[in-house]
Amino acid sequence: MYSQVKVLAGGLAHIPVIIGFFYLILTFFNKRALKFSQDNKGNKPEVKVAPIKAEPKKVSLSNSAAPKPAKKKHADVPVNIYRPKTPYEGTVIENYSLLKEGAIGRVNHITFDLKDSDPFLNYVEGQSIGIMPAGEDSNGKPHKLRLYSIASTRHGDNFEGNTVSLCVRQLQYEKDGETINGVCSTYLCDIKPGDKVKITGPVGKEMLLPDEEDSNIVMLATGTGIAPMRAYLRRMFEATEKEKNKWNFKGKAWLFMGAPKSANLLYEEDFQRYLADYPDNFKYTKAISREEQNIKGGRMYIQDRVLESANELFKMIENEKTHIYLCGLKGMEPGIDEAMTKAAEEKGLNWSELRPQLKKAGRWHVETY
Ligand code: FAD
Ligand code: A2P
Repeated sequence: MYSQVKVLAGGLAHIPVIIGFFYLILTFFNKRALKFSQDNKGNKPEVKVAPIKAEPKKVSLSNSAAPKPAKKKHADVPVNIYRPKTPYEGTVIENYSLLKEGAIGRVNHITFDLKDSDPFLNYVEGQSIGIMPAGEDSNGKPHKLRLYSIASTRHGDNFEGNTVSLCVRQLQYEKDGETINGVCSTYLCDIKPGDKVKITGPVGKEMLLPDEEDSNIVMLATGTGIAPMRAYLRRMFEATEKEKNKWNFKGKAWLFMGAPKSANLLYEEDFQRYLADYPDNFKYTKAISREEQNIKGGRMYIQDRVLESANELFKMIENEKTHIYLCGLKGMEPGIDEAMTKAAEEKGLNWSELRPQLKKAGRWHVETY
């Protein structure tokens, strides 16, 4: 009896110990659960608000004692002043053929007046504008805009800084025995002085010229790909333009130009004049595909000319002040790559390694379509 009471009392005496033990376990798990939920609460917003947290830093940069942020590359180049919903209606000033007797197709130089644009539609050499052709597509919707490289300098062909010019080839191809005319290029080649045209942009920062006056500029153009190059060359060598822009180009400009026939060479007289005026700064190499043959007996393309000039070209490319610009037919890109690969090999260089390096350094500029 005594021992039963003793055992019972002993057992009862353990109850607080057991309760205490369970209390301790519960407290421990509660704390863990609380910590876990706090950790998670803390984590999620942190990820989300990271950009917001960064904001005050930006604000504090306005403090003159704070370090100045690095200037964003080409931050001052205008873009999208006019968008498709609210395009600028420019007036056609002139629209004339750039081709000579016997040429293939139709290529026009077209100039628009920008002086009434508000905000003012300004641009720099190497940019493009959008054109919204009049009329509707087969679904009854307004035609979409097409991009065109600007062929004038920012001062315009009249040097007054209030026009923009384009170089447009009419797209024409045969389908099921029928001639199909491209919508926008035909619209542009047909418009008359006084007509109003919906313009958007400017756009593009890929084809901008470097600021340095002693840079070297290699230009590879096919057909209307000459448009931005014409603007560059005017900026470098056109007398009144030079007075306006105060950019005293001292480097070497080398233009490779591809056209199907001599009569298709665009802006030829201007380029001949620049050659005569600046023989030490301008080099002009043509590839007339349907009048000249490459060493294999095929059509002469600019990449064949690139190969012929491999040594001189690569000497220029080795100079970090040299920029290369490609513009025109998309189809020329593989050909140019192949030619550069061969040309590089001759100099013991690897083009597939060199090209990304040039691109990264902002010296390899491509706009093909
Ligand atoms: P569309 O009516 O739009 O017809 C084009 C369509 O026709 C093609 O998409 C294709 O589906 C079809 N097509 C074309 N050829 C064939 C064929 N052989 N067989 C079957 N189908 C075919 N053009 C210039 O003339 N000058 C420039 O300076 C210029 N700069 C440009 C700059 C940039 C950045 C870009 C992207 C393009 C540039 N273009 C330039 C091209 C221009 O934007 C238009 O694409 C071109 O004028 C054709 O437009 P379109 O409305 O006349 O043709
Ligand atoms: P071709 O048409 O004789 O084959 P345009 O725009 O006035 O037609 O001029 C484009 C020029 O580019 C033409 O001389 C054309 O030659 C040439 N060309 C065509 N395809 C290529 C290519 N893949 N690489 C380089 N040039 C090309």
